[in-house]
Amino acid sequence: MTSNKKRAGVVGWPVEHSLSPRLHNYWLRQYRIHGTYEPFAVKLEQLKETLHTLCAQDFAGVNLTLPHKEAALKLVDIVDKHAKRAGAVNTIVMQEGKLKGSNTDMYGFTENLRSQQALEPGGHALVFGAGGAARAVCAGLLDEGYSIVLVNRTRTRADAIAQALGGGITVADWEEYPKEMQRSTLVVNTTSLGMTGQEPLHISLETLPAHTVVTDIVYNPLRTPLLEAAYARGNRTVDGLGMLLYQAQPGFEAWFGIKPEITRALREHVVAGLMS
Ligand code: ATR
Repeated sequence: MTSNKKRAGVVGWPVEHSLSPRLHNYWLRQYRIHGTYEPFAVKLEQLKETLHTLCAQDFAGVNLTLPHKEAALKLVDIVDKHAKRAGAVNTIVMQEGKLKGSNTDMYGFTENLRSQQALEPGGHALVFGAGGAARAVCAGLLDEGYSIVLVNRTRTRADAIAQALGGGITVADWEEYPKEMQRSTLVVNTTSLGMTGQEPLHISLETLPAHTVVTDIVYNPLRTPLLEAAYARGNRTVDGLGMLLYQAQPGFEAWFGIKPEITRALREHVVAGLMS
């Protein structure tokens, strides 16, 4: 007997702190879908075999989290334009024995800003950090018509992102950020600094214009020291949890056939998971 239950999940190492099961299972209940979304703790060496096993078991697809996003680019059968641009795969759709890799982090980042009316085509963004998350953030902003100044502790990593994304990004040395901040309409932290257990991103907001929006991709805590400092100056802030919620939307739609809503109740449900 065959079951028509649709199955998806998240593959990572470690994976137990991932909020994705909490998020997707909320939607599965909300829309009364006969499906599951499970966490899979998988080491990098076992990623390829795991993906093929899940595909053979008729999984609809998976999300990928650390440390798999970049490695998956080489393991999937089809890489879509978003994954190519982000240089990473965070969402796989499994269909007819094939793995199709996409990246929804760019969408997640820009849709979250859009939902807060904080996206401004033609704006100037000052982006801190040059890891995998920074590349997706920069690609998303470029697609929305932003010009970007990218600052990172290790300058060569910022240069590599600017080169990979081909135009629209100026790399600046760390010492130059106060000057660059002055003409920014958006400031983004993509580094891991500010996360619970880590030191804050130590930057001065002295030159931050009053109209500039400040956002952080760190969502634990929801109000990072950077966002607190910007808020205290009267600037608009957008926290990083919305990016997590929005990046999940396209995957859920591809696997389960419904574009799920991002609601206040969903946000509260996921925030409760942060605290537990
Ligand atoms: P991810 O791919 O998730 O973005 P990552 O590749 O580890 O993660 O990148 C983390 C980012 O945080 C990098 O920009 C890193 O700067 P370096 O490229 O110089 O390593 C930045 N970062 C981490 N710790 C930092 C610190 N103490 N000071 C400044 N930047 C830091």
